[in-house]
Amino acid sequence: MAQFHPPRDIYTGRGCRESVGEKAAALGGRRALLVSDPGVMSAPAAEDVRSALRAAGLTVFTYDGVTAEPTVAMVEAGIRDYRSNDCDIVVGLGGGSPMDAAKAIAVMVSAGEVSLPSFEGANKIPPGRPPLICLSTTAGTGSEVTPFSIITDQERDVKMLIASPELLSDASFSDPALGDTAPLRATIYAGLDALTHAIEAYVSRRAQPLTDDLALSAIRRISASIVAACSEEPHWAARDEMTLAAMEAGLAFANSSVALVHGMARPIGAIFHLPHGLSNAILLGSVMEFSLEAAAERYASIADALGCHVAGMDATEAARLGLDRVKELTAALGTPTLRGAGADPDLFEESVPKMADDALASGSPANNPRVPTADEIVQLYREVL
Ligand SMILES: NC(=O)c1ccc[n+]([C@@H]2O[C@H](COP(=O)([O-])OP(=O)(O)OC[C@H]3O[C@@H](n4cnc5c(N)ncnc54)[C@H](O)[C@@H]3O)[C@@H](O)[C@H]2O)c1
Ligand SMILES: [Fe+2]
Repeated sequence: MAQFHPPRDIYTGRGCRESVGEKAAALGGRRALLVSDPGVMSAPAAEDVRSALRAAGLTVFTYDGVTAEPTVAMVEAGIRDYRSNDCDIVVGLGGGSPMDAAKAIAVMVSAGEVSLPSFEGANKIPPGRPPLICLSTTAGTGSEVTPFSIITDQERDVKMLIASPELLSDASFSDPALGDTAPLRATIYAGLDALTHAIEAYVSRRAQPLTDDLALSAIRRISASIVAACSEEPHWAARDEMTLAAMEAGLAFANSSVALVHGMARPIGAIFHLPHGLSNAILLGSVMEFSLEAAAERYASIADALGCHVAGMDATEAARLGLDRVKELTAALGTPTLRGAGADPDLFEESVPKMADDALASGSPANNPRVPTADEIVQLYREVL
């Protein structure tokens, strides 16, 4: 048996953001807390969203105190804004960071006197949150369609993974026009995050037929479009494909899971404060190599979806071709080593045992085709340093 849980309404296509006001009003919203970050709020598309909400009769309050890798304190500040402005709907607008913060704010405002870290893990959030809409401005995290929120608990230096059906938005908007103004680096890291989602969703031990179809479709689109979408000269058709692919990959991993790459990437984000997609990209090739023999047929299908000519090859040979293609894509997009990305080697040595423990504790490595020991995770971290 398999189950599949998407958001109630999924809007896609250039221009779909203009329907957000109508949707918010239909959900009963009158006073919206728009949760975003300063970069997104300075983009013209943010004004489109505010105008659409106002045109539908909503009053809009903006909380733009989120930065990359949102923290518990940022969520708490958003909760105060929601309450002091007597809001009744939360609208997350941005990349994964503002959308994850928006989701956490929405579930916390109705949860009473509890702290966000008490929701860490799966299915701990009580029902009853206000309506929640997510609009994605980066083709990457898929957060607009996932039941997850990833918030850093600075007291413990842990990127908490919070999973609950309550974190699924009532309506998601994947409008490529919202991403047109994203900085190139953010577009690259987001695209690599989406590629990692699709690959991990497909090789996950919890994959199911529906997630397989979505994951392979996302891999096909990403392989064909990511380099053009991430070029200095924007290629709009490629960005449209990436926006759709990121949403497909989000639906796929939300209903199967991510695996070892994400398990290991979160501690990198928590300790070295590297962007999430970059942490994934640094790890992706080495983790695929580590896992390949345990699911050669699956990795061979990935190679096929990546556009490799695998006809007549045995599964391991085909899988290796896919690995080469992934390495080619990550290299073409300028992926450095961990040290090259600025990680301090002394801090690495000091932190690597905790990083391995935190990676295992997240549960994601258990979904990998080859489940690593803590020592093997340390070894993999050393490989990418
Ligand atoms: N909830 C989930 O399912 C899920 C899945 C994967 C990742 N994540 C989380 O998402 C976060 C990363 O999200 P991200 O990669 O989308 O990046 P991000 O949200 O951190 O944004 C990166 C930068 O791009 C800027 N930006 C984004 N869109 C813009 C636009 N249209 N115009 C101008 N500037 C823009 C932002 O201001 C920010 O400075 C991480 O915390 C990660 O852990 C969540
Ligand atoms: Fe991710």
